[in-house]
Amino acid sequence: MSLSTHTVTDYVEDVSPGSGALPPRPWYASSDATRLSLNGAWRFRLSPTADAEDDSFAEEGYDAGGWAEVQVPGHWVLQGHGSPIYTNHLYPFPVDPPRVPTENPTGDHLRVFDLPQDWPDLAEGGAVLRFDGVESCARVWLNGTDLGEFKGSRLPHEFAVGHLLRSAGNVLAVRVHQWSAGSYLEDQDQWWLPGIFRDVTLLHRPAGSALDFFVHASYDHRAGTGTLRVDSDVAGRVTVSELGIDLATGESATVPVEPWSAETPRLYTGELATAGERVPLRIGFRTVALSDGLIRVNGRPVLFKGVNRHEWHAEKGRALDLATMREDVLLMKRHNVNAVRTSHYPPHPAFLDLCDEYGLWVIDECDLETHGFTEQGWRDNPVDDDRWTPALLDRAARMVERDKNHPSVVLWSLGNEAGTGRGLTAMAQWIKSRDASRLVHYEGDPTCRDTDVYARMYADHAEVERIGQGLDGGTHKRRRLPFIQCEYAHAMGNGPGGLADYQRLFESYDRLQGGFVWEWIDHGIAHPELGHAYGGDFGEELHDGNFVCDGLLFPDRQPSPGLVEFKKVIEPVGIAGDAGDGTVRITNKQDFADLSALAFSWSYEVEGEPVRCGTLSVPELAPGESAEVKLPAPPDGAPAGEAHWTVRAVLAADTPWAPRDHVVAWGQVPVAQRQTPTVAATARPVSGDGVISLGPGTFDARTGALKAVGGVPVCGLRLDVWRATTDNDDGAPWQPDLRYGLLWRKLGLHRMRHRLDAVERGADALTVRTRVAAAAWEMGLSTVYRWTSDGDRLRLKVSVTPEGDWTVPLPRLGVRFGLSAADRVQWYGGGPGEAYPDSRTASRVGRWQSTVDDLQTPYVRPQENGARADVRWAELGGLRIEGAPEFFLTARRWTTEQLDAATHRTDLVPGDTVWVNLDHAQHGLGSQSCGPGPLPPYHLRAEPAAFSFVFSTAPAPQTS
Ligand code: GAL
Repeated sequence: MSLSTHTVTDYVEDVSPGSGALPPRPWYASSDATRLSLNGAWRFRLSPTADAEDDSFAEEGYDAGGWAEVQVPGHWVLQGHGSPIYTNHLYPFPVDPPRVPTENPTGDHLRVFDLPQDWPDLAEGGAVLRFDGVESCARVWLNGTDLGEFKGSRLPHEFAVGHLLRSAGNVLAVRVHQWSAGSYLEDQDQWWLPGIFRDVTLLHRPAGSALDFFVHASYDHRAGTGTLRVDSDVAGRVTVSELGIDLATGESATVPVEPWSAETPRLYTGELATAGERVPLRIGFRTVALSDGLIRVNGRPVLFKGVNRHEWHAEKGRALDLATMREDVLLMKRHNVNAVRTSHYPPHPAFLDLCDEYGLWVIDECDLETHGFTEQGWRDNPVDDDRWTPALLDRAARMVERDKNHPSVVLWSLGNEAGTGRGLTAMAQWIKSRDASRLVHYEGDPTCRDTDVYARMYADHAEVERIGQGLDGGTHKRRRLPFIQCEYAHAMGNGPGGLADYQRLFESYDRLQGGFVWEWIDHGIAHPELGHAYGGDFGEELHDGNFVCDGLLFPDRQPSPGLVEFKKVIEPVGIAGDAGDGTVRITNKQDFADLSALAFSWSYEVEGEPVRCGTLSVPELAPGESAEVKLPAPPDGAPAGEAHWTVRAVLAADTPWAPRDHVVAWGQVPVAQRQTPTVAATARPVSGDGVISLGPGTFDARTGALKAVGGVPVCGLRLDVWRATTDNDDGAPWQPDLRYGLLWRKLGLHRMRHRLDAVERGADALTVRTRVAAAAWEMGLSTVYRWTSDGDRLRLKVSVTPEGDWTVPLPRLGVRFGLSAADRVQWYGGGPGEAYPDSRTASRVGRWQSTVDDLQTPYVRPQENGARADVRWAELGGLRIEGAPEFFLTARRWTTEQLDAATHRTDLVPGDTVWVNLDHAQHGLGSQSCGPGPLPPYHLRAEPAAFSFVFSTAPAPQTS
């Protein structure tokens, strides 16, 4: 390799943040300075190494006519050039910092542009070229002049270019390297996606225009006043007409204001006017403080009901448009989420504007993770190596300077999973010296040396409770800090379970200030054959499979049942009661707002059908207050049967994030208990031509197997204990709890055999005795099916007695059978969505309808899903099934075995039979894919059990 070629790419492996860029400053859209978006189609050439091509493409007149095209913002690997790679924490290259592989995909990007007609005279003022995000290292030329190079993928970089611009034919050349020294600082658990993935903009900078400015807007909750001061590198005036404020930069004014909070995101419109420019300001007055060991905003402790948000779009990767960002914010607000941790890098800055506007607390996290060094005991970790400290400080500064004017940002986070070291301390010290108005977060150091909050990830319930009680020990400093779970409730696949149990703890102990579910959205990549692709689907030599699909939203942003559960668990209003005294207890669980934005209603329901409804008058209740509110008398003439009050809190008026009548919270109060079905055993089993008949039931005389109920053929009815293991059943190797998914398989619960011991035709019952057990093991389930009938209906009682030494819980316990045709399903019980024992808060008792197809939950990696809980009765395929007690209902067009074998949804091919599971019980979900398993009360222990179902033929289903 020649020396000259080598020098051209030296910067790639240089630990420095780069050279040539301007100091960082806030991101905003100037009111009057002209701008030109350089987003759109760019010419593109991909090279296999950093030095394969020289830099002649940056010269004027270069003919790139033969090059491909890519869209900017975008990632070239999602546009047909190369492939994405997914690893959780392993570096997909040898760890030899700061060296990177010779095979270093390098994308040359070229764009020729003219200045628009209205671009001011080039002699007046300057211009900057801004890159909002490029992964992972870029070198930039304009009109043949080398402007410099930079690293820090999710951070802004600006270059002064005024002196180089011409009115037409400007040649902007950007060389982007996938791997660089910066990659060692960007080992976040996500796809590696090179490219210019955020906006590129040319900004006119008139003479005397603003440089850096810092809006300080605090709130004194005792006085009810806000104090505003705007510091600016270029002096000017600050006006907020609504508040009568007109002052010089650097001066302050104190006036009565309404404070900003995530619940009441009051923003004041203002302006910073310098000689050359008017800068719009959106000012939220609020004060963040650590006092008495609690995070307080405007004097009050806050409870974070948060999510970790990676930027994700199934087609565009991390190149998000504004509509998608807004969709995220709206979905969060509509699901009662009040906080976001921007895991694990500063988001596109427009997202923070939305957080200010709609109201979300933000932990803004720096673009820093060095997790892969854990594999070598954190040796050579860049955050503990002074050579890297300038790069770390550069990253901290680019985050803070860009985002410091957002009221929504209440904590700065140093980064994620980067071990410990001097570099982190340097970052924290710099941040605190620059911005004393916010707190500092970092999870990776249990001593909390640099932080204002004790943060953990995936601590189990018992530990969280100990922390809440202050019994967890730790350094002297840590013991005085508030606690948050910066990640918990790993939402991979079906789950998380245990959310309600965490929330109870968060609401019980002051020190626990809530948490952030991991994570917001599945990072599945839209794929023509696979539906959504995950790690390994692009032939990566190293990958972490579907660990990248662990969100509350599916990749297409449809809410998963986990999000619906989370919404219910974190409701801002508690609604609970017992019918005995005819009252319902309403609790305002918000931190700032009273209940005046909500309207309350009741509905009286019998057997799930509303009989009457009305409005409920609820006092406005200050935060934290409760009231017992009297319900009306049950309506006269209501039909007999199981009855409930359903009380709802809805938006009283349209809000920016949801329309009037959007349901914010609800609760059900049982009134009259259900009568479980009884069937008098009056019919006799009758033998005939190879069959036994009992009431509407027809059985195989030799095996006792049910063949039909009335005219409805039924096949394969038998005990079932297997479920297609969930990601949480399979668990992660580093979790301490037993990984039952693996044990179940080892013990053969997926290959149970059914030994027929007896078919007994009695006077009033047909009894079939079996033993259900797996090859190689002594444990078994002695199972007795006892069939009786009153002539019209057929009752099955299943009695299960475990035999042998059962050391594991069961995945499920119930029966399954096949129907030859079924489409529409209706039921009375929990709904509308799926529910499992430790994720059933959002399941509301009612009458529901669906189709077999719509009962499926589209987890990216197929697994157990779709169970409806607390079902009293269900009708499908011409059968009516009543349960005593209530049961879980599942129906699908493939078997559990097919579901279990599928790796992608496109593997699931509907067969001729609809397979129905009626489960007496299910094992809990937990979140062991990266956290604790289900809590013991949700374990389905192998114990003697009995349950029954009553079968009859159903009226023909109505077509919708
Ligand atoms: C955490 C990490 C996240 C993610 C999660 C598991 O350790 O901070 O980035 O990897 O585990 O999905």
